[in-house]
Amino acid sequence: MLYIRRSPIIGYFCSVKPIIIAIDGYSSCGKSTLAKALAARFGFAYVDSGAMYRAVTLYFIEQQIGLADNDAIEKALEAIHIHFEYNPEHRRNETYLNERMVEDEIRSKPVSDLVSPVATIKAVRTAMVALQRKAAINKSIVMDGRDIGTHVFPEAELKIFMTADPLVRAKRRFAELQAKGEKWSMDEVIENLKERDRIDSTREENPLRQATDARVLDNSYLSEQEQLDKVIIWVKNLLSART
Ligand code: DC
Repeated sequence: MLYIRRSPIIGYFCSVKPIIIAIDGYSSCGKSTLAKALAARFGFAYVDSGAMYRAVTLYFIEQQIGLADNDAIEKALEAIHIHFEYNPEHRRNETYLNERMVEDEIRSKPVSDLVSPVATIKAVRTAMVALQRKAAINKSIVMDGRDIGTHVFPEAELKIFMTADPLVRAKRRFAELQAKGEKWSMDEVIENLKERDRIDSTREENPLRQATDARVLDNSYLSEQEQLDKVIIWVKNLLSART
């Protein structure tokens, strides 16, 4: 069973028709940085769909569930509860797996190495997509991932496809991991990003694709503030076109 518990961030209701903003793109493009900032700017809910796949992966690792063991996977999906809570002290949305806060563990190397193969499993995707759709009922939401604009919310009013130079992405990811005290070499980071992009773009179930109606945002040479300013204009234009 999977659910999202309402938190101070997830739970915003607009007086106008709720809006869905879908942000997809390659690994370490800064999707969640943009999504969080955008959600905070407009008071929308934010859902990190990748965190859901990561939480499932952590569970599979801990329970030693083989990725070809369909029965064990089905049982595991029944036993997995995922929810997000906003932690005001850490000023972040945190992922919970069966009531345990796992926000840091799901970013660890073992999880990062296995998450893309786990995300290719049909039963896992079906369960996660149902959870993602549930999270958007009656509220304005920004969700980032790989298939949000193409599969989860093909009706989203704003779809953004983020991309950046692979070396720029690897440098950003390396700096992020170093800041967290994680021991990755630059080569390992490059290899992990390449492999995840390859698996995410070539899998059978809802691969990473640019939606035909997505706006492309290449942030190789944009600061976080510059990219946010750009997207704020897109959202404002959209909202004013509705009234
Ligand atoms: O965004 P992220 O790096 O935390 O995502 C982790 C993995 O989950 C990524 O390699 C692909 C997968 N994923 C997916 O298949 N579909 C999504 N909507 C989000 C993530």
